[in-house]
Amino acid sequence: MTALATAIDHRAVLARYGAEVPRYTSYPTAPHFSQGAGPHLWGELCGGLDHAEPVSVYLHIPFCDRLCWFCGCHTKQTRRYDPVEAYVGSLIAEIAAFRRRLGFSPRLGALHLGGGSPSFVRADDVKRLSEALHAAFDFAADAEISVEIDPSDVTDETLSGLRALEVTRASIGVQDFDPAVQAAINRPQSFERTREVITQLRASGLVSINLDILYGLPLQTPERLDATVEKVITLEPERVALFGYAHVPHVKKHQTMIRQEDLPGPEARLADAARASHALQSGGFEPIGIDHFARHGDPLAKAARGGTLRRNFQGYTADPCDTLIGFGASAISRFTGGYVQNTVPTGLYQGRIAAGEPAAERGYRMSQDDVIRAHIIERLMCDFALDLDDLKRCFGAPADPYVREALRLAASDPDGLVKVEDRRFVIRPEARSLARTVASWFDAHLQSGEARYSKAV
Ligand SMILES: C[S@@+](CC[C@H](N)C(=O)[O-])C[C@H]1O[C@@H](n2cnc3c(N)ncnc32)[C@H](O)[C@@H]1O
Ligand code: SF4
Repeated sequence: MTALATAIDHRAVLARYGAEVPRYTSYPTAPHFSQGAGPHLWGELCGGLDHAEPVSVYLHIPFCDRLCWFCGCHTKQTRRYDPVEAYVGSLIAEIAAFRRRLGFSPRLGALHLGGGSPSFVRADDVKRLSEALHAAFDFAADAEISVEIDPSDVTDETLSGLRALEVTRASIGVQDFDPAVQAAINRPQSFERTREVITQLRASGLVSINLDILYGLPLQTPERLDATVEKVITLEPERVALFGYAHVPHVKKHQTMIRQEDLPGPEARLADAARASHALQSGGFEPIGIDHFARHGDPLAKAARGGTLRRNFQGYTADPCDTLIGFGASAISRFTGGYVQNTVPTGLYQGRIAAGEPAAERGYRMSQDDVIRAHIIERLMCDFALDLDDLKRCFGAPADPYVREALRLAASDPDGLVKVEDRRFVIRPEARSLARTVASWFDAHLQSGEARYSKAV
């Protein structure tokens, strides 16, 4: 391989394939689910669940006591607590309805509470949720229970709720520690308070801490991001997620509070991501997929080394369950046969649950073509490679056209992003930041619909 062949011209690649591509936390991606298909598909896919198959569960909490201007999540600010309490009641009713529909209690291998800010939910309500989940699911002894936490919410009350739920992993938002960046995103959060919360969580018995950092934020200079990464390393988390800020003000109106002229350009974003990744690796973290980092002994790092890493709506996971049941407004469930998404507006979701109707709204039934493409895209996003013989082992003769497609794509790749080596379609190490672009080559839905995605890097 010559030195010339390894230099990737990112600008040319983004001009050729488009600067905006999906993050591929699912395939097909959510914008391709069909409106109205949810309720029927939900019943059908639940009916097909196997007693013996463990499932993962996701609970969505769409509330925060503040609104950060960068936020891309399904959430809303509330200053009062009673809407949260009422919403917890709806979640409990939805969980009970699911259990009645199934007629048995599936084994639960992993539980994740995301949002919004699940740490905003009071201890009594967390306990009510925990009871409802234990009544509907058979928790595995080693079930991983993770919760997203905004440090500004954490009180003794929060810690008592987390203990009641027997939480094993906390995922804490940091974003950036610099005061100027924090002012530009409406998220004041001191390093000292974050460190204190981590100490409290560890004292509460939590085995693992993940910290989220963002690059591409307004007013974020290389020095400010480097200082944040350095501070994050001193907090000694087990995992770090380094996300590129997705600026989508056409979807998230509050992002218009962020001035376009304060945002770093594509080249600065690329350089920032590369420097932060390098610093985290020098700090003892192994890179996982496109945006995660983990200590050598962490389950995520072990899964990445062993080729068993998975990708789901929360990002990367070591959880091997194929089925994910989502509860709450906007939550998505993944079955081997398709996806179902609950209605997004919180009021509408609660109205449906109160009326005894399924909250499912949009859905997608997987064809065999989708199943094979989903497998290919997941392996590329997790391993940066696709083992062509393994594809054949998984799907038999129907895999043949996809093997030919991979070989053809590698042969006609003008930018040198990929190569075929030992019957493996491999994303070159220097093109890994463009893994989403390479994955999109296999996306048969990309050109259809009006979906808009975030920046590829
Ligand atoms: C639900 S939030 C985390 C929990 C908690 N609410 C908090 O903010 O600390 C999940 C993570 O999504 C990431 N995130 C939110 N909006 C984003 C955006 N527009 N682009 C990229 N990442 C984003 C942030 O890193 C955030 O920590
Ligand atoms: S980043 Fe977290 S705390 Fe901020 S608005 Fe989004 S979900 Fe809420």
